[in-house]
Amino acid sequence: MKFQPFLLLSTVGAVSGQLDKLAKEAGLLYFGTAVDNPSLNNQNYLRVARDPAEFGSLTPANGQKWSNTQPSQGRFTYGSGDAIANIARQAGQQLRCHTLVWYNQLPGWVSSVYNRDQMQRIITAHIQNVAGHYKGRCYAWDVVNEAMEDDGRYRNNPMYRAMGVDYITHSFKIAQQTDPDAKLYYNDFNIERCCNAKINATIAMIRTIKAAGAPIHGIGMQGHSRVGMSPSKREMKETMARFSELVDEVAFTEVDIRHTKAANRRRRKRATRARLHGSCRGLFGDAKYSWIPQQYPGEGEACLWDRNYNKKPAYHSIVGLLQSAASAGLRASATQAPVAAAATVAARSAAVAAAN
Ligand code: XIL
Repeated sequence: MKFQPFLLLSTVGAVSGQLDKLAKEAGLLYFGTAVDNPSLNNQNYLRVARDPAEFGSLTPANGQKWSNTQPSQGRFTYGSGDAIANIARQAGQQLRCHTLVWYNQLPGWVSSVYNRDQMQRIITAHIQNVAGHYKGRCYAWDVVNEAMEDDGRYRNNPMYRAMGVDYITHSFKIAQQTDPDAKLYYNDFNIERCCNAKINATIAMIRTIKAAGAPIHGIGMQGHSRVGMSPSKREMKETMARFSELVDEVAFTEVDIRHTKAANRRRRKRATRARLHGSCRGLFGDAKYSWIPQQYPGEGEACLWDRNYNKKPAYHSIVGLLQSAASAGLRASATQAPVAAAATVAARSAAVAAAN
């Protein structure tokens, strides 16, 4: 009799997490989140983050970026990334790795390299070391992040200045040599709304990568958005379909939906429904650990839990959507084409979302 409260507690704990469980029942590959290092001493946060029924995948929010892994040339540090990777391993969650080559959070010593051969050697060494360190542990790597401008030009970053578009193909080739089992992704923002200049340019870039004989398996749509400004379901469905023609997997990788005022339930629900997907990041821990309040002062609440770890209406709206997707029989079609499952099911999920 005296154990009852504990039993009750553990039962509640066991059934509370459900996003990943439902996502898989709906035929998606997983439902994940990013975790940043400052959150690791917060037990309330961790209790949710390491629940594999809630999140089947973790991504280090910052720990694997260049500024953290190779702050000065030849000095590799993995403590921050490892801390998140170890949590995922202990909890039985997949690790989604982010990111190898990005113009942001790039140490100054890389930015000052202009010589092509030098830059090529630097990229090679960086990927061989970092992807080598995590070899066999990453379900996927964001190999190149944010290489395009919104107007469709290549972003004029230090790697591009030194090597032109070859820095992208080279990065994918080295990533594959280093960790042949990882799914290699290109990841960017503002590529959800069909069919803007950036999407068209991204498609052209993916074709260039493939034509150069470099491997690419996935396109990550970051999915940062704002309540009332989300692309329509039709637009997203169309974009996902176009991307699916080029790669095996399409994932929403960094979804958050910011807004200025207190949540407007109806609009927020609608926005969230529009972005159901296979892989999420930044969904969790409003204001406290989300990057939104710093990046967009005055905005926040872009995630599925509030700062007191209460689930918000958007959480329940996603649960409902996943449940109806599962009962619509998406699982059957996903198992017929397991590799393409993310792309296919994500596209179908958008169709289900549109019907709601
Ligand atoms: C953000 C992190 O969440 C912040 O903590 C950091 O200060 C800046 O970067 N696109 C990406 C992510 O690919 O890595 C970025 O993450 C958000 C934009």
